[in-house]
Amino acid sequence: MKCVTDCPSGAIDIKTGTIASTCIHCGHCIAICPESTILPDTGVIHPLEASNINSDDFRRFTAELRSHRRYSKKEIPQEIVDALIENMKHYGSASNARPIQITVVKSPEKIQQLNDVSASTLLKSLQLIASPLIAPFIKLFAPSIDLKSLSTYKDSFIQKQKTNKSLICHHAPVVLLFHGPVSKFGMGEADAYIWATNTTLYAKTFGLGSCFIGFIVKAMERNKDLKAAMKIPKNHKVYASLVLGYPKAEYVNETSRESPEVNLV
Ligand SMILES: Cc1cc2nc3c(=O)[nH]c(=O)nc-3n(C[C@H](O)[C@H](O)[C@H](O)COP(=O)(O)O)c2cc1C
Repeated sequence: MKCVTDCPSGAIDIKTGTIASTCIHCGHCIAICPESTILPDTGVIHPLEASNINSDDFRRFTAELRSHRRYSKKEIPQEIVDALIENMKHYGSASNARPIQITVVKSPEKIQQLNDVSASTLLKSLQLIASPLIAPFIKLFAPSIDLKSLSTYKDSFIQKQKTNKSLICHHAPVVLLFHGPVSKFGMGEADAYIWATNTTLYAKTFGLGSCFIGFIVKAMERNKDLKAAMKIPKNHKVYASLVLGYPKAEYVNETSRESPEVNLV
């Protein structure tokens, strides 16, 4: 009865030995069965191996995790990229829908294109927001936007672009795009960030650094040609993007940030 008790959809009828169509294929029944009675579609059950990460290890490991924006030229072996993607089968997804697909961008030309188009899209948005015609409306409808610092950011971005040709992709050798069908009711964005976040952790175990790149997500929203150039299906949205590589920086102190405020209800 362990499978019956643990099934999140209450889909198992042990008397008839049937599983209702409400089953979300999460595999809890397979995972919990000591008799290995329920077989997965592949027919192969992999017993869990005990992990020995304790809470102190995890705290230290996550304290080391930072966004990296400088990478060595060393390529990431394909086996490691494959391992990162293979392990995504372990990460959760709303209703176990698993709509997320991964596009691996490895060609230097494609990464440069991703960088350049995202950079120009970002600059266009900044120029628009800071333009004297639009600024009064922004002040009226979105007063929290600090137009002055956006304008300073824009100017410094243009300046930095003269010497750094990879301001968006940070010269990383691999970019992962997490995309899935556009859906009103789905939770593709949450799924993508769960998968991407876990990927940053697993990547670190291989000595890899990473950085989320929201600018690519925004550029993909605004530029259909960029989506097509990266062979993202038309009905898909890029929900998250991650650059990965062997980092140059080595951090020796913990973050200086505060933990979040807590409200008890
Ligand atoms: C959703 C999301 C989008 C981000 N987009 C970018 C980005 O486009 N470019 C970038 O350099 N960093 C990006 N970052 C990294 C943040 O700037 C970074 O988390 C922040 O600077 C704190 O640094 P840390 O991650 O090293 O602790 C993003 C982070 C998140 C979570």
